[in-house]
Amino acid sequence: MTVERTSPSSVEARFTLSGQRPLQLERPIVTASGVLGFGAEAAELVDLRDVGLFVTRGVSLAARGGAGLPRMVEVPGGMMHAIGRENPGVDEVIDRHGAAWRAAPCAIAISLVAADLPSLGKLIARLESHADLVGADAYELDLTVPSDVLGGRRWESSLEESTRCIDAARDSTELPLIVKVSPDVVTPAQFAGAAADAGADLLSVSGSPVGFLPNRTRAASALAEGEGELSGPLIRPRALAAVANAAASGALPIVGGGGIGSPADALDYFAAGADLISLGSALWADADLPRAVIESARRAAASRGGSRVADLVGTALRRTATR
Ligand SMILES: Cc1cc2nc3c(=O)[nH]c(=O)nc-3n(C[C@H](O)[C@H](O)[C@H](O)COP(=O)(O)O)c2cc1C
Repeated sequence: MTVERTSPSSVEARFTLSGQRPLQLERPIVTASGVLGFGAEAAELVDLRDVGLFVTRGVSLAARGGAGLPRMVEVPGGMMHAIGRENPGVDEVIDRHGAAWRAAPCAIAISLVAADLPSLGKLIARLESHADLVGADAYELDLTVPSDVLGGRRWESSLEESTRCIDAARDSTELPLIVKVSPDVVTPAQFAGAAADAGADLLSVSGSPVGFLPNRTRAASALAEGEGELSGPLIRPRALAAVANAAASGALPIVGGGGIGSPADALDYFAAGADLISLGSALWADADLPRAVIESARRAAASRGGSRVADLVGTALRRTATR
């Protein structure tokens, strides 16, 4: 019989970002932007007391109409979507969802969507001027959206333009800033270093990489937009590689995710160097996943004699030592 040196229930799960812009999360669990909507509707699906940070659906300065139909298609091992970050614009979103954010039993990050720097600055200014109504604990800068400066390519495809974007966000707020990219990001380790220098506090390597699928019966693409965003188990190995690469740089704490469908998947992300775990589309089928991940992480840490979930972070990196 194995005797556990630590009781799982006494394993510390809290995540603390100290320094100039502190952030304390009760659980190392982040809900991925978009999959649970803006906030009020999320509480009907997931018990937010099991979540550390709820990231809202993407919010832009002006309303975005979103993409045409079809905007979602099944692909082997997951789905491809092109929603176009549809939202009614920041003022309307604050009116409709601010109360739910302020009452949430977990921390809230607003996902920022901007195609150019002036609108990013104005978006943050608008959120900051309504800080009492918004009640945000952090911002997540979405660099998986198209940039006007890059002719519609994603921000994350250019280290230089991404750095400018992070700089602009940093200049506009004192709140903790999470920068979100996908496994498509240019050299994750280099990106993490540049993001840290530009003032990011966390790097979320959990976004959807780009996919494409033709419609076989029509001379067209399966999605009206052409390319789409991939979610689900098919992206997991690529996302784990990007997380490991970014984490090995040691530049920033990492939010890791993409295709997590079970507690074991989440443990893989901790092992690859993620400090926080992002849960996305799997929540639609398994609303208890946040709790299951925490319990499993506590048990795993305890069985190794650890006293903190953080003891699980990066254990696979030490052996691969790819730096
Ligand atoms: C329907 C849907 C809408 C999404 N909307 C957003 C969004 O508004 N902003 C964003 O950063 N990511 C968005 N995403 C991407 C997710 O946040 C997440 O990064 C991606 O789905 C990968 O995680 P998963 O495989 O665990 O779902 C969306 C994903 C889906 C499926």
